[in-house]
This record gives sequence, structure tokens and C-alpha cells, in this order.
Amino acid sequence: MYEELIDKLEKENCLTSEEYLELILHREEIRKYAAETAVAVRKKYYGNKVYLRALIEFTNHCKNNCFYCGIRAQNSECERYRLSAEEIIECADEGYRLGFRTFVLQGGEDGFFTDEILCDLIRAIKNKHPDCAVTLSLGERSRESYKALREAGADRYLLRHETCNPEHYRKLHPDSMSYENRLQCLADLKSLGYQVGAGFMVGSPFQTEKDLADELIFLKGLNPHMVGIGPFIPHKDTPFAQYKSGTAEMTVFLLSLIRLTLPKVLLPATTALGTADPTGREKGILSGANVVMPNLSPPFARKKYILYDNKICTGDEAAECVACLSRRIKSTGFETITDRGDYCGI
Ligand code: SAM
Ligand code: FES
Repeated sequence: MYEELIDKLEKENCLTSEEYLELILHREEIRKYAAETAVAVRKKYYGNKVYLRALIEFTNHCKNNCFYCGIRAQNSECERYRLSAEEIIECADEGYRLGFRTFVLQGGEDGFFTDEILCDLIRAIKNKHPDCAVTLSLGERSRESYKALREAGADRYLLRHETCNPEHYRKLHPDSMSYENRLQCLADLKSLGYQVGAGFMVGSPFQTEKDLADELIFLKGLNPHMVGIGPFIPHKDTPFAQYKSGTAEMTVFLLSLIRLTLPKVLLPATTALGTADPTGREKGILSGANVVMPNLSPPFARKKYILYDNKICTGDEAAECVACLSRRIKSTGFETITDRGDYCGI
């Protein structure tokens, strides 16, 4: 019965919310079949390739106060840092030497990085490395700002919607933030021609299994180029310190369902997944994911970009992290690729 639902999902790329919920509730029985089917679908579009993206976490200053996040403004224990434009360009150069052709610039919502500063930075990277894609993940900005960054050369933007349930959104964020604005940002990014990544945390406080089923319906409607999901993991200095972590097991099952719902999507096996389970990223690849993002930030920075407790890869040099992750991916029987790896669909 559950196998039939997976077959239907593979064929039609969509189920009803009730059907997704059935699968989620009975995932123990069907996870293996779901993963095998998802891997076969992924192979059809991307072969054996797993794309490596160079992640540069360039500021942990943030004006927001998301209840779950370790770099929230009100966390006075967080030691703040900001890389200079030169340091960011050095990271990209190092990434280029290591073979990377996609740089993901991620940070908190830091007012220091005005459009002017960011546009100069994007142009500098693109001028030096015209064969590379620049992905931004800087949170919510105005349409004008997204437009300027796009015109300066940014190709892609990652902005997780965090939850598709507006009431749930209010429980994860202070009143200064809104679900409507988050979705407006995603719509603006799409209309400006970015390749867009959305996503959510798995097992965040107050999330229900029904919410997870609805996430799949929401993603189908949004049809993003990328979907980033990872387990929620508490951070000791946040209002959610006492809440339980999401599980790697649920996350990898959802990766399979996402692959079957959006067959061509770029789907990372995230650092949070590797933190919740030491072999979580490998399990993610074996469940339908096809992207990993080794950390190329300088070691002093990555020790401070702590979104949740026990984050992995905070002590390694860029080259070590790349070698480690490549080894892990190869152990799953897949091949690591550092080229731009654009979305393969339309
Ligand atoms: N400021 C940008 C933004 O809001 O999109 C990018 C940085 S933000 C820290 C990146 C992502 O980290 C968030 O979208 C959220 O899903 C994830 N994150 C934050 N706190 C987390 C936690 N405690 N556990 C797991 N993921 C978390
Ligand atoms: Fe970063 Fe293993 S992936 S150290």
C-alpha cells in the first residue's frame, strides 16, 4: 500500500496532503523503498554527480531575533565577526584553486553590508572568476536591493521560508518578522531571474507531522530550483534551548519525498544533518540529495558562526573540509563535481 503511494508519487510528482501524511506516519516501513526510488530518479537527471558548493559564512552580525538561531541579535554570548571584502575574495580565490565554481555567500542580516558594498564584492568575484556562479543567502531585503545584487552578477539566492504554516511561523519568530514578507521576498527573487532556494527546518518546536505533509504541497506549488532542509538543533543561548532536536531519520525521509515531488531539484545534504547524525550527509545522498556545501570560511570565523550546538566542521581548514567531504561522498558510490552545476530543468 505504501509502496503504491511511492510509485504514484514517482509517476505523478505529487500526492495529496493526506497521502503525504500517511507516508510520513509510516516512514519506518517505506523508507528504504522511498530512498531507492528517489536515488533512481536523481540518477536520471544528474547521473552519479554530487555538486560541491563553497560556503563562505562572512558575517554573524544579525538584526533579527529568530527564536531558534544562535546568531540572533539578542544573544549577547555570540562573539561577532565580519570578514572584510578582501578576506571574502581570498576565500573565493582559495575555493577557485580547490576547483569550486559556485560560491555561496551566507550571513546574518547585517546592515553593514549595504547594496553598494555587496555589489562591489559580487562584481569583484565575478570579474576575477567569470566562470563561477555566486549564490547569496543574506535573508530578507527589498526588491530594489535584490535587483541591484542580481544586476551586479548574483545568480542564485537561498532563503528558507522556515515553515509554510503562518501560525507556526509566528511561534518561531518575533512580531517584527512576518510570513507574508518572507514569501514576498521569495516571489521577488524569482521574478528577478534568480535561481531560488527555499526550505525549512525539520522538527522545529511546535511543528506537526501534518505541517510536514503540507510543506511538500507548498514546495510543489513554489517549484524552487533548490530546497534546503535540515533538522532543527537547539542552541543553548536561545529561547528554544530546551526544545528537542529534529531527527536525521525524518530529514532523510523528507529528502526522498522532496526528490520524488521535484525530480530535478538541487537538494543539499546539510551541515545540520551531519551534526544530528555523524553520517547524516552520506545518508542524505543515499536518500536523494545531490549537493553538499563544504565550509571555506577561515577557521576563526567558522568557530563563531554557530547557529546551533555542536555544529560540525568548525575546526578545519578549507582544504581539509573539502577532502573530508569528498571522501565521504565517494564512500557512498557517488562522484563529486565542483563545476557550476546549474539547475537542469526549466
Ligand atoms: N540570514 C540568512 C537567512 O535568514 O536566510 C541566512 C543565514 S540563516 C542563519 C540560515 C538558516 O539556518 C536559516 O534559514 C535556518 O533554517 C537555519 N538555522 C538557524 N538556526 C538553526 C537551528 N537552531 N537549527 C537548525 N537550523 C538552523
Ligand atoms: Fe567539514 Fe568533514 S566535511 S570536516
